[in-house]
Amino acid sequence: MTKILTIETTCDETAAAVMNDQLDVLGSVVASQDKIHQKFGGVVPEIASRAHVENIVPVIDETLRRANITLNELDAIAVANTPGLAGSLLVGLSAAKALCVALQKPLLAVNHLQAHIYACKVAFAQSNVFPCIGLIVSGGHSSLYRCASPLDFTFLGGTMDDAAGEAFDKVAAMLALPYPGGPSIQKAAQNGNPKAYRLPRSLLDEERLAFSFSGLKTAVLYLARGRAGRKGPLLLDAAQVRDVAASFQLAVVHALVSRTLDAAARHGVRWIAAGGGVAANGCFRKTLAEAAAERGIGVAIPPMRLCTDNAVMVAARAHRLFAAGVRDELTLEAAAR
Ligand code: KG4
Ligand code: ZN
Repeated sequence: MTKILTIETTCDETAAAVMNDQLDVLGSVVASQDKIHQKFGGVVPEIASRAHVENIVPVIDETLRRANITLNELDAIAVANTPGLAGSLLVGLSAAKALCVALQKPLLAVNHLQAHIYACKVAFAQSNVFPCIGLIVSGGHSSLYRCASPLDFTFLGGTMDDAAGEAFDKVAAMLALPYPGGPSIQKAAQNGNPKAYRLPRSLLDEERLAFSFSGLKTAVLYLARGRAGRKGPLLLDAAQVRDVAASFQLAVVHALVSRTLDAAARHGVRWIAAGGGVAANGCFRKTLAEAAAERGIGVAIPPMRLCTDNAVMVAARAHRLFAAGVRDELTLEAAAR
């Protein structure tokens, strides 16, 4: 049975996994840097790469220990080499290359975004979700793809400004809620009224499969800090913060769900696969599932731990590539974009 070790360091999680070709997870570790970046209100690239350097070897060791496997028993090493933060990507890529050279094993490059979509393959192994519309909503991306087959993804459209996760993170900072913003806004929104504030939905015309969150973000900034902007004091009390959080969350979810359903209708597909950190959002999951069900469309969203960055999703994608005969050279480069 083929066993692949995968490494994921594209942003601020240091992760490794070992998976076999039946897509069984033999071992998986995610070392989150959330606490380190929290005091800065967002990911600081330089600090992220340093933390990856410190974490990478212990994370790989612990993954192998959990998988009860030695390096020699592996068939290949795979790494997410694009897109992401340049310094972060380099740490994972260097580790993967070093292992390949030392062990004389093949190297495989995996696209992080495609891996996010592929996470649903682990969770929905029995269903054939292809062809589907893939939606990736993370800290760096809000993109729609038409996925004809597991190896054939066509980009349909994305964000004109902020990514959905980025908007969550920035709006959380405006509301003085902790980083990462997605989970804190979701928590605050639980006890808020999503109809309390009328926030702009999207200024984009209906024809385009694209997203824009900057107008929404600015509307929240004025509500939260008035004309003083980001540096001004918070003008809302705790109950108002909960209401703004709920109204903001609903506006983002509405934009994501309506555009994804538009894409499915236009391309005549019966499945939607969503991934990325924002796909862990409870309101998004519920709204998409209900709206898709009304139209007879199936939804594949991986469990929460496979939505945020992890190496299991990279492994699932790597096995598909390995089986298709794909191998990469040791001259492989990291591509931030
Ligand atoms: O996919 P991911 O872990 O990393 C990137 O590839 O960017 O996504 C991280 C993003 C962050 O912006 C975070 O605020 C957001 O996903 N996020 C959420 C939730 N959990 C994480 N956004 C909304 N609701 C959540 N529950
Ligand atoms: Zn990601």
